[in-house]
Amino acid sequence: MARFYVTTPIYYVNDIPHVGHAYSTVIADALRRFHRLLGDETYLLTGTDEHGQKIERRAAEENIDPKTYVDRVSTRFKQTWPKLDIDYDRFIRTTDPDHEAFVAELWKKIAANGDLYLGSYEGLYCVGCESFKTDKELEQPGNICPLHKKPVETVKEPTYFFALKKYQQRLLDLYERRPDFIQPESRRNEVLSFVRAGLEDLSCSRVSFKWGIPVPGDPKHVMFVWFDALTNYRSALGSGDLAKFWAPNAKVVHLVGKDILRFHTVYWPAFLLAAGYKEEELPDVVFAHGFLTIDGEKISKSLKNGVDPLKVAGELGADVLRYHLLRAVAFGQDGDFDHAALLERYNADLGKNLGNLLNRVLGLCAKNGLDKHPSDDPATDSPLEKDLDESVRTLAAATRKAWDDLAPHVALENTMKLSSAANTYVDRAAPWAEAKKGDTARVTKILSRLVRVLEALSVMIWPAMPKKSDAMRAQLGLPALAPKVGAAEWPDALPPVRAGLAFGTAGPLFPTFDEKAQRELLDRLVPKVAEEPKAAEAAPAAGASAKAPASTSGGKPAAPEAAPGVISYDDFSKVDLRVGLVKTCEKVPKKDKLLKLTVDVGEPEPRTIVAGLALTFQPETLVGRRVVVVANLAPRDFGGKLVSHGMLLATGPSEALHLATIDEDVAPGSRLK
Ligand code: MSP
Repeated sequence: MARFYVTTPIYYVNDIPHVGHAYSTVIADALRRFHRLLGDETYLLTGTDEHGQKIERRAAEENIDPKTYVDRVSTRFKQTWPKLDIDYDRFIRTTDPDHEAFVAELWKKIAANGDLYLGSYEGLYCVGCESFKTDKELEQPGNICPLHKKPVETVKEPTYFFALKKYQQRLLDLYERRPDFIQPESRRNEVLSFVRAGLEDLSCSRVSFKWGIPVPGDPKHVMFVWFDALTNYRSALGSGDLAKFWAPNAKVVHLVGKDILRFHTVYWPAFLLAAGYKEEELPDVVFAHGFLTIDGEKISKSLKNGVDPLKVAGELGADVLRYHLLRAVAFGQDGDFDHAALLERYNADLGKNLGNLLNRVLGLCAKNGLDKHPSDDPATDSPLEKDLDESVRTLAAATRKAWDDLAPHVALENTMKLSSAANTYVDRAAPWAEAKKGDTARVTKILSRLVRVLEALSVMIWPAMPKKSDAMRAQLGLPALAPKVGAAEWPDALPPVRAGLAFGTAGPLFPTFDEKAQRELLDRLVPKVAEEPKAAEAAPAAGASAKAPASTSGGKPAAPEAAPGVISYDDFSKVDLRVGLVKTCEKVPKKDKLLKLTVDVGEPEPRTIVAGLALTFQPETLVGRRVVVVANLAPRDFGGKLVSHGMLLATGPSEALHLATIDEDVAPGSRLK
C-alpha cells in the first residue's frame, strides 16, 4: 500500500468551468481512481483561486463586493465536478480561513529566514496571468500578453521581494537529482533553460489593490496571488492526520497546464525550501499538460469559445466525455476538442468494440441457455485460450504501467486492445459453430473465458468510466467496485471462474448512433453559426419593442408553413440570441427615447446598439448588466451616422420597461437556445 496525493490547479473564479478546466480535473480523478484500484491511500484536491487584482476588478465591474462574487462563482466549480463523477476529497478555496492562516504562517517562516525583504518594483504586469512580464515575453509593439491578447500594465510600487535568485543552484540540483520532477521531458528542458539563464528576485506583494491576504506585520501589502495560491497544495492538508500525504513516503503529483509550469517548478519549490521544507518534502511530480483548443484556438473566457462540459455530459453521459478527454489527446500535448471526433471515437471504441463485446457475449450466453457464469476446466484449454490469457496479462500490465506513468491515453488504448483481442477470440473460437456441432463443453469454456475477460475490463475501465463500469458489472451479475485501502483490485491476470453467479439484465452499454442521430446530436452540441443577414433592408426597430418580426432573410418571410404561429426549430435557430455585457451607455442627443450602448457580445470589439430604453433607464444603471441581444439583425440606420447592430429584448411600455437579463456569470457571447 502506498499513498498518492494528486492535485489540480485551483481555478480562477473570473471564468465559468469549461472543458479545458474539466480536462485536468477529470485526469486527476482518473489517476486517483487507478491508485484506489491498487489499494493505495489517496487524496484528491481541487478548488478555486479567489484573490488578486483580476478578481477585484471583475467584482467591481459587477458592482458587488469581491467575497459575494467569489462565493457565487466558486459554487459553480464546486457543483460541476460531481456531475462529471469527479470525487474530490476537498474543494479548497483560497478564502478559506484555514488556508489564509497557513499562508500567513508560511510567509512568516520565510521572512524569519531572511528571504523576504522590502524594496520597490517597476515593471510590466499582466492582470490576466497575475504575473510580472519581461518585454521579451510579450508581443511587440505594444507589450501585448500572448495569452490574453491585451496590453499589459506598468506597475511601480513598494513590494516585498522573495530572494529567488538565492535558490537558483538548489533548484538546478533538484532537477538534476530528480529527473521525474518535471514532466514531460520537453517541459523539463524548458524550465532548465529558464533557470540556467538566471533568476531574479521575485516581487511578492502589492499595495495598489486590497483583495488578497495581508502581509503579516505590514497590512498595506497583500501577498502576490501566486504565493497564496500555490500554498493551497500544502495548506489543504494542515498539520493533523492528513499531513501524511505530504511526507516522503507519499507520492505528490501536481497536474498543471503548460502555461503555469514555471510557477509550480520554480517558485513553489523555492518557497517551500525557503520555509524550511527539506528536499524530500517537495512534491514528486509536476506534470504539465497541453491546451485543448477549439478550431486551433485556446479555449478561454477572453476568446469566448468555451465548451460547456456539462452540456456534453448531459447528452452523452459524463463517462463518454471523460473517456474522450483521457483518450483523444496524448497527455502532455495540445489537442483540438472536436465534437464529431468524440462521436466517432464513441462509436468505434465504445460502441463497436467494448459495447459490442459485452452484448455479444451475454447474447451468446442467453442463446445457449446460460443465465449464470459457466464453469470451466483449464486442462482442456486450446491455444486460443492460452493466447487470450496472455493478452490479458500483457495488456493489463501495459495499462497499469501507462496509468502509473501518467499516460491515460496509452492506458485506454491498451484497455481497448484487450477488448479487441476478446472480440477476435470470439470470431476465432466461433462458439456458434461449436454449438452446432453439439460440443457444449467447448461452448461453455469459450463463454466462461469471455465473461472473465469482461470482468477484467470492467475493472480496467473504472478509472475513466466509473458509471459504465458499474453498469457493465451489473449486467455481469457483479457488484459495483468499491476499492478499499490495502485491497488491490487491479486484474494482473484473468479473474477467477465464478461458476453459478447469476447474470444481471443485459442491455446496450454504449448504443451507437447512426448518421442521422449523429447529425442531430452534433446540431445540439455545437451551436450553429448564425446565417449572415443577407438583406440590408428594413430591419426591425432596434429598441424596446419585442413585437418586431424576428428576422427578414433575403426578403423571405421567416414564417413557418406548418400551423399558423408555429415555427420549426430550424426557424428558431436562425435567430442568434446572445448574452451581451453592456460596456458603455449614453443618451442620444435630441432623441428622448433612445440610448446608445456598446455591448460585448463575444466578438473582438463591442457592438453599438441603439435602443428605445431612455424613458425607463438612466444610462449608468445599465453598464455592467448582462442583457439578451438579437445579434444577427441587419444593421439599422438611425441617421446622423448612428447605426444599430442588434436589438435588446425587453417588455413593457416605453416608460416602464423590463429588460431581459441574465443574472448568472455567463460569458458574453454565449448563445441562448
Ligand atoms: N489560478 C491559476 C492556477 C493556480 S494553481 C496554484 C490559474 N487558473 S486558471 O483558471 O486560469 O487555469 C487553471 C488551469 O486550467 C491551468 O492549468 C490552465 O492551463 C488550465 N486550462 C485553462 N484553459 C485550458 C485549456 N483550454 N485546455 C487545457 N487546460 C486549460 O491559472
